[in-house]
Amino acid sequence: MSISERFITYYRETFFSWDEEWLQKFLSTIITPLKKSFRINISKISIENLLIRLKNQGYIPFETWISNVFSFERTIDFNPFERRLGFSLEHLLWYIYIQELAAAHSVHILSDWKIHNDSFLILDMASSPGWKTTQLSEQYPKSFIIANEPTRERIPQLLQNLDRMGSINIGVTLYPGQYFATSPETFDRILLDAPCSWEWTIFKTTDAVKNWHIKNVKTISRLQEKLLESACISLKTWGEMVYSTCTLNQIENEWVLDSMMRKFPWCFEITFQKRYWPHIDGTGWFFVSKIRKLLSVEGKKLKIQKNINEEIIPLSKHEQSLVFDFFHSSDIQEYVFYKFKHKLLAVRLSESLELVRNNFYCMRFGEEVGNIEEGKIVWTHYAGKTLVSSKVPSMILPDDEGILDLYFRWEKIYLNTNLRWYINLYYDWQRIGLDYINETGILSNFFPPSWRRK
Ligand SMILES: C[S@@+](CC[C@H](N)C(=O)[O-])C[C@H]1O[C@@H](n2cnc3c(N)ncnc32)[C@H](O)[C@@H]1O
Repeated sequence: MSISERFITYYRETFFSWDEEWLQKFLSTIITPLKKSFRINISKISIENLLIRLKNQGYIPFETWISNVFSFERTIDFNPFERRLGFSLEHLLWYIYIQELAAAHSVHILSDWKIHNDSFLILDMASSPGWKTTQLSEQYPKSFIIANEPTRERIPQLLQNLDRMGSINIGVTLYPGQYFATSPETFDRILLDAPCSWEWTIFKTTDAVKNWHIKNVKTISRLQEKLLESACISLKTWGEMVYSTCTLNQIENEWVLDSMMRKFPWCFEITFQKRYWPHIDGTGWFFVSKIRKLLSVEGKKLKIQKNINEEIIPLSKHEQSLVFDFFHSSDIQEYVFYKFKHKLLAVRLSESLELVRNNFYCMRFGEEVGNIEEGKIVWTHYAGKTLVSSKVPSMILPDDEGILDLYFRWEKIYLNTNLRWYINLYYDWQRIGLDYINETGILSNFFPPSWRRK
């Protein structure tokens, strides 16, 4: 693959004028595929336990400089049920997330590597496919996160990822990021993982190489400036945000930050900044900077919009009693239930829920845990994913990969029990989720059909 001369000249002049050898090293690294890596969701499983499980399936994990992110290879001899990591039980149960190492860093930078119990309102301004949204949800489990994505074609992938990882504290909105400038001083934290010139896809496709032109880079940097300006306005004073891109050029990074500092002098400080070089850091291309807001800045405030999500409404008394037929109150004390048409939504309790419901139109609000049909609730898989009902009995699927495989293929499985109700299903000490045993004793798989193994 030949790399565009324009690209090489820009990088030589901007970063490597002092060292042709390093330039050549950089150029040879960027056309090599990246090592795959995954992130472990430590709120679900310990690192040790997860690594043992994967090693038993023939994966060889390698430590990285992020404690819960591992790169991996596979051994050659697989057992017949072994699948790609993306179809493993561990992946389906939200224990792991396949994510590039440097990209996994930006949420850690925002959260200072900690899990926070604050009830923040967080904006993920450019969120699809949701890698970092799910990470925000792990690092800020008690906060409410707006996952915003204006590109319609990129919504299905976002929703699919949120489904798998759980979206109990997430609302999805479809605004151009510039829109948030009309909500000054609103968010405690913002992640702006900006749309960029996709330089990093060089090793995957020749397009980024062929199309690299400084004019295109400057065009996208003007959009990035507007998005950053919007983030600056909508961030609360003393709030923090991360601006990141998966490009290394200065035009989409330092220039965008410089323009913010010129526009709002004395209002912001940059508290962290790093450029990840593939030939030095062994990662994908990435630039990340962390910004703190020191002073409020001018924005154009829209009229308060009351009840923009008017179809998302609180439950009636009768509907609430149906919820309590299924859950003990202690099971759900941290959640609030709403209704959208016939759908039952569960959302983690948070101080900003009403602010969001009144001001930002959400195409998704929390998790769809049931359907209200003819005065009763039919619970879905999601009712057992994040929420756990202690009224529902547990059953264990026989410890046999073949049976698990049948389960994931939606084949009929008979369970030796007289029970005909919902069950919490376990396999190999792992809770798979909520299922149902029908009147003929067959286990009805409540996993979403799109996750079916083929
Ligand atoms: C680098 S990707 C985000 C990746 C995502 N944060 C993740 O980790 O999975 C940038 C996203 O910005 C979206 N985007 C494009 N124009 C936008 C705009 N005006 N406002 C907000 N987002 C925009 C793109 O559709 C794309 O999904």
